[in-house]
Amino acid sequence: MKHLISPLDLSVSELKEILDLAGEIINEPKKYANSCNGKKLATLFYEPSTRTRLSFEAAMLNLGGSVLGFSSADSSSAAKGESVADTIRVISSYADICAMRHPKEGAPLVASTYSSIPVINAGDGGHNHPTQTLTDLLTIRTLKGRLNNLTVGFCGDLKFGRTVHSLINAMVRYENINFVLISPDELKIPTYLREEVLDANQIPFKEVKVLEDVMPELDLLYMTRVQKERFFNEEDYIRLKDSFILDSKKMEYAKSDMLVLHPLPRVNEISTEVDDDPRAVYFKQAEYGVYVRMALIMKLLEVKAC
Ligand code: NCD
Repeated sequence: MKHLISPLDLSVSELKEILDLAGEIINEPKKYANSCNGKKLATLFYEPSTRTRLSFEAAMLNLGGSVLGFSSADSSSAAKGESVADTIRVISSYADICAMRHPKEGAPLVASTYSSIPVINAGDGGHNHPTQTLTDLLTIRTLKGRLNNLTVGFCGDLKFGRTVHSLINAMVRYENINFVLISPDELKIPTYLREEVLDANQIPFKEVKVLEDVMPELDLLYMTRVQKERFFNEEDYIRLKDSFILDSKKMEYAKSDMLVLHPLPRVNEISTEVDDDPRAVYFKQAEYGVYVRMALIMKLLEVKAC
């Protein structure tokens, strides 16, 4: 049985299969409307979510399946002190597959070792978020036409942003990828990523503090929210939260075909005036999240179009 805990759990060819299937689903959604008849998805969300949880639910419903679950730790027995291990043992007999979001890094991995159904990591603390990565890759491949030969800028909270960590991990496996890491000193990528992923694979990257300076080089700009909930003190958050604000003026420095991605939710880091720029694709990106999760569920449950 297969789980999806880290973006590296999928090989490049498995990723391609999922993205290809997502593309087929976009073209012919009706063909997949009964693929998961009689199957149940449990969403176990110990942390807030809008897109991830609802796109998982929409995905399972689009496939003809049903959903059950909880959307906060407070409304589950976690509030009474139940362990993730005990919860997943029980959920394994209620559902066929589950998506888990948890503030503790590694919680979905622990769950997978006690589970008899596939466990999908829907975000674990500041660590990984592999299904956002699938969403991002589908967006890039569909709207940019390729996953190689790209200069990718990541801007904002590169320290705590799990979507950044997962996407970097996944993208280093494609040809000729260059990263431009734009953040204040306090929010640079974690050392393990720099050493074990970028340096170890000899991936070209640079770390800068001014977005405007690098804008003209970028094929993609991945904006991120400063992750308030992961800060140890509020003063630091307040000082850093508006480090970067993308506005129309800054977009003037960008290539005419540069794409702006953002996993959302946005706070202040992208001014709403950018939303009408055809290069701003973050809402389209959120839509792709449903199709790619449909493809992932089908793959993990080993079901086909019917
Ligand atoms: C992201 C997350 O939860 O990590 N949101 C999402 O799943 N689309 C990004 C964020 O919360 O900033």
